[in-house]
This record gives sequence, structure tokens and C-alpha cells, in this order.
Amino acid sequence: MSFQRTLLALTAVALLVWAQGCDRTINLVDDGSSEGMPLSCAECHDSSDQITGKATQWAESAHGMGDAYVRGTRSSCAGCHSGSAFVEMLAAGLDPGSVDDGDPEPTRQDCRTCHMIHETFTGTDFGLRTEEPVDFYAMDGVTFDGGEGNLCVNCHQPRRVIPDAVSGVISGISLHWGPHHGPQSAMLLGVGGGPGVTGSLSGHYGAAENTCVTCHMGEGRNHTFEPDEETCERCHPDATDFDYNGVQTEIDSLGNDLGALLLAAGLINENSEDGHPIVTEAPENQAIALWNWLYVAHEDQSLGVHNADYARALLQDGITRMGGTTP
Ligand code: HEC
Ligand code: HEC
Ligand code: HEC
Ligand code: HEC
Ligand code: HEC
Ligand code: HEC
Repeated sequence: MSFQRTLLALTAVALLVWAQGCDRTINLVDDGSSEGMPLSCAECHDSSDQITGKATQWAESAHGMGDAYVRGTRSSCAGCHSGSAFVEMLAAGLDPGSVDDGDPEPTRQDCRTCHMIHETFTGTDFGLRTEEPVDFYAMDGVTFDGGEGNLCVNCHQPRRVIPDAVSGVISGISLHWGPHHGPQSAMLLGVGGGPGVTGSLSGHYGAAENTCVTCHMGEGRNHTFEPDEETCERCHPDATDFDYNGVQTEIDSLGNDLGALLLAAGLINENSEDGHPIVTEAPENQAIALWNWLYVAHEDQSLGVHNADYARALLQDGITRMGGTTP
């Protein structure tokens, strides 16, 4: 009997002892096979599709192997960066901006972060932690309501908005300036960029019923969280890759043009591959251009797929503000 099976059997026995008060009759035969498990455990533990299959995909995803979970020790990062702090945050009705404590033992975004695993010990535990619409905590009056994708948006939302200029100068720029790494939801809504561009909802916000989940998990509920071309073909039968209508090529090129202008103006340097600014303040036009570049070229990461029109408009506005010309 493997260690895991022993552990399973032991947990099951412990559960039976705990459940003695109720009148359920469960036959536990410790024959080393799952047949002896209470039926509810077997609903999940008997199926490699449900656990091993998803766990293998998850282990290859950034949720499963990234190192950003270590940031969860700080209260201002915990709600999004530690899976277990996320669960506590939701239970307490808080948002990532109002979590008081860091998580001394942060966890990755694992099965328990997104599903109700081991709460009722039945198959319904695969239900999602939340599908409620999300009010952006960093932005007044903006709500994301995109089906199962709402789960994702609790974390994949901006942490900041661009500050107002004072006497024509925007200050408070730091190495980690910008909306923060997960602003994909704001991009779908067409908000979060610098002033000067009025965005509109992406076609994908209404058409893709479960937004993030529709594209990043597909019909097979792929737990690598990487989009699949087959999903695009459902709505764009002529798509051959993610560069549909050449949008990714175009956005990449506009991002490079704007990056070159920011480099020439000394707002970033050649080592700023991650988009780290090297100034602490800048004239309003330059700062807005920098913000738009960080947002589109570094943080959204879809190269326009999330919202082609808004991404294009933000970069073009930035180029114009830096005195460049757009194609
Ligand atoms: C909703 C499906 C589901 C049900 C029902 C379920 N489990 Fe689990 N169980 C899981 C998942 C998912 C994991 C975590 C797997 C991972 O992290 O790779 C897990 C992990 C475990 C582990 C490993 C230790 C741990 O907690 O990570 C044990 C032991 C275990 N389950 C026992 C049980 C027993 C006993 C029952 C019934 C009383 C049960 N499970 C019912 C889904 C379920
Ligand atoms: C508890 C917060 C949280 C939730 C909920 C969450 N994510 Fe994430 N996600 C993160 C963090 C943090 C990272 C970065 C992980 C790392 O690099 O260590 C990440 C990384 C990712 C990445 C990889 C990004 C890259 O740079 O390669 C994708 C794709 C992703 N998430 C999609 C989703 C989708 C789709 C959902 C909903 C089904 C979701 N996330 C739900 C916090 C979350
Ligand atoms: C609103 C949720 C949220 C909060 C709060 C938050 N983050 Fe993140 N962070 C994310 C998401 C989501 C990602 C991954 C997004 C992606 O890759 O597109 C991420 C990615 C990162 C990354 C990049 C990881 C990598 O390896 O690429 C760093 C670094 C980071 N966060 C640091 C922090 C720090 C430090 C704090 C606290 C001061 C913090 N974050 C607070 C949501 C959040
Ligand atoms: C970042 C969030 C996230 C994480 C982490 C995650 N899941 Fe899921 N999972 C989802 C979403 C979203 C769905 C689709 C909604 C649904 O089917 O109810 C889903 C669906 C599933 C399904 C149902 C698939 C189907 O075909 O209907 C299973 C089984 C599952 N997940 C198992 C797991 C296991 C096991 C783990 C841990 C290894 C895990 N999930 C981790 C978000 C997540
Ligand atoms: C129309 C389909 C679609 C929708 C809806 C969508 N995405 Fe994406 N997303 C993509 C594509 C395509 C890419 C770029 C993949 C590439 O070029 O490799 C991407 C890139 C990303 C990345 C960068 C890492 C990666 O996988 O390349 C993250 C993180 C991400 N999306 C998160 C989200 C979140 C969170 C949502 C919901 C708020 C969302 N996406 C909605 C299609 C979509
Ligand atoms: C559920 C349907 C649906 C799915 C799935 C979908 N799209 Fe879309 N897409 C739309 C709609 C609707 C529009 C807006 C109308 C239009 O511009 O054709 C759009 C527009 C776009 C645009 C903007 C086109 C332009 O020239 O401005 C791009 C790029 C795009 N989609 C790429 C993708 C990619 C890549 C995927 C797969 C990861 C994908 N879409 C999946 C429905 C979908």
C-alpha cells in the first residue's frame, strides 16, 4: 500500500469517526483498493481525469510552478499571490486592497484556491470559489461581469490607476509603476489606460461567455491556462493562429516604436526589458505614454487579442505624446 493510499484510508477512517453522529451507513473495507472508500471520496479520487489529469496540466502552468506566490507574505500582495490567503480573503468579504495580514506560509494558486475541495467531501466540491461579478477595488464604479472568468478577475485586475498631474508633472513613478501585472480584465473592459483615450468593451467581453475561462481553458477545461487556437476557430473560422488579422504583429510593432521613444527620452534604459522605469517623475505627456506602454506592452501580454482597438489606441496616443508619428 503506497503512502498516499495509507493517508487516504486514514483520512477516510478519521472522517468516519467524525461522521458517526449521522445515520449514514458507509462500508469501509481496507482492502487497499478504492472500492472500500466512502462513495463521496471515490467520486473524485477514483478518476484520474479529475485529479491527476488536471494536476498534471496545472503543474506546468504559472499557477503551478511560478515563484510569485512567495510575495504572499506581504499583506498588500497576499490576497492575489497566496492561494490560501485568497480563500480567507473571499470568506471574510475583503478585496486584495484591504487584506490586513500577510500569509506566513503562502501557497501557489492550487486546486483549493479555485475549487471548494474537501468542504463537503462530495463531487460538488469542484464548484468554483466564486463567480460573483468583481468591483475593481482600484477604480471607482467599474465592475467586471464575465461568467466563470469572474473567478480569475479577483486577482487579474489592476492595482493602481495613473495619478493626476500636478503643475504638468506626474510624480510617484517607481520601478514597479503601471497598473500591475494582471490587468487583463481592465483591457477587456477598455479601461485602465492614461487619460486621453476613451476605450470601449472588447468584442470578447460579450461574445466569449465565460471570458477568461472560455479562451484560456477551452472546452476541455485545460488547466495549463494557455489559450488554444481551436477555441479561436469557433468564432473566427479563418484564424490560423493568435495573430488574427495581423493584430499581434501590429501591436508588437507599435509597442516597439513607443519603447524606442521612451528609451530616447531617458524614461527607461536598455536593461528595462521588464519595463522598469528609471525616473521618479516626468512631464505629463511622457508619463502617460510610459503608463500606456507598461500596460499594453508589458502587463496585458496578449498583444491586442484582449481588446485590439483599445490596445492600438493607447499605444498610438503614447507615440503622439512622445512626438512620434504613427503609421
Ligand atoms: C471534489 C473532489 C474530492 C472529493 C469528493 C474528495 N477529495 Fe480528496 N482531494 C481532492 C483534490 C483535488 C485533492 C488535491 C490533489 C492535489 O493537490 O493534487 C485531494 C487531496 C486529498 C488527500 C491528500 C492530502 C491533501 O489534503 O492534499 C487526501 C488524503 C484526500 N484527498 C482524502 C480524501 C477523502 C478521505 C475523501 C472523502 C472523505 C476525499 N478526499 C474526497 C478532491 C476530492
Ligand atoms: C488567487 C489569485 C489568482 C486567481 C484566482 C487566478 N490567477 Fe492567474 N495568476 C495569478 C498569479 C499570482 C500569477 C503569477 C504566478 C507566478 O508567476 O508565479 C498568475 C498567472 C497566470 C497566467 C500566466 C501568466 C504568465 O505570465 O505566463 C495565466 C495565463 C493566468 N494566470 C490565467 C488565469 C485564469 C484564466 C484564471 C481563472 C481561471 C486565473 N488566472 C485565476 C493569480 C491568480
Ligand atoms: C490584485 C491582485 C494582485 C495584487 C494585490 C498583487 N499582485 Fe502581483 N501579480 C498579480 C497577477 C495576477 C500576476 C500575474 C499576471 C500575469 O503574469 O499576467 C502578478 C504578477 C506579479 C509579478 C511578476 C511575476 C513574474 O514572475 O512574472 C511580481 C513581481 C508581482 N506580481 C509582485 C507583486 C507584489 C510585490 C505585490 C504586493 C506589493 C503584488 N504583486 C500585489 C496580481 C496581484
Ligand atoms: C486558477 C483557478 C483554478 C485552479 C488552480 C484549478 N482549477 Fe479546476 N477549474 C477551474 C475552472 C474555472 C473550471 C471550469 C469551470 C467548471 O467546469 O466548473 C475548472 C474545472 C475543473 C474540473 C471540471 C472539468 C470538467 O471537465 O468539467 C475539474 C475536475 C478540475 N477543475 C480539477 C482541478 C484540480 C484537480 C485542480 C488542482 C490540480 C484544479 N482544478 C485547479 C479553475 C481552476
Ligand atoms: C478571446 C480570447 C481571450 C480572452 C477572452 C482572454 N484571453 Fe488572455 N490571452 C488570449 C491570447 C490569445 C493571449 C496571447 C497568447 C500568446 O500570444 O501566446 C492571451 C494572453 C494572456 C496572458 C499572458 C500569458 C499567456 O497566457 O500568454 C494572461 C495572463 C491572460 N491572457 C489572462 C487573461 C484573463 C485573466 C482574462 C479574463 C479577464 C483573459 N485573459 C481573457 C486570449 C484571451
Ligand atoms: C466566442 C466568440 C469568440 C472567440 C472564442 C474568439 N473571438 Fe475574437 N472576436 C470575437 C468578436 C465578436 C470580435 C469583435 C468583432 C470583430 O472585430 O470581428 C472579435 C475580435 C477579435 C480580434 C480583433 C480583430 C480586429 O481586426 O480588430 C482579434 C485579434 C481576435 N478576435 C482574436 C481572437 C483570438 C486569437 C481568439 C482565440 C484565442 C479569439 N479571438 C476567440 C469573438 C470571438
